[in-house]
Amino acid sequence: MTRTRLAAVDDVPEDGSVLFTVRERDGTEEEVILVRCADGEGDAVAAWRNFCQHETDQRLDRGFGAAVRDGEVVCPKHGSMFDTCTGYCDNGKAAESYLSAVDVAVDDGDVYLTDAAVTFAHEGGVDDGDDEPSSTSHLTF
Ligand code: FES
Repeated sequence: MTRTRLAAVDDVPEDGSVLFTVRERDGTEEEVILVRCADGEGDAVAAWRNFCQHETDQRLDRGFGAAVRDGEVVCPKHGSMFDTCTGYCDNGKAAESYLSAVDVAVDDGDVYLTDAAVTFAHEGGVDDGDDEPSSTSHLTF
């Protein structure tokens, strides 16, 4: 099985995320965030599809890094917090839910995509993969 190097562990910020895009089996592109996971066991990073479980059109990383505080990803819309290691949320609007996991592995300080259900598309968000010359002209805020 081929694996794709995503980043060095050291490139994943303690208080943010690294954004990349994968292609699902059905061909759709999905954004994924890499975050630090410091539970003392397993890998030092985890990867989650970039949407909240309360409103699935709400991105956690809106292009400038997810808010990560004390080992939890904070949803920017209503503030629910998800454990960076387990993806579990026990609070707020998204309580009793889990983020959607993507398998990654750490090897010798580098993070690799190992999830057989997806393939690496490109770094950054879905829109960042547009290689049209005018790709920056349709940014919306
Ligand atoms: S959209 Fe994330 S908590 Fe409501």
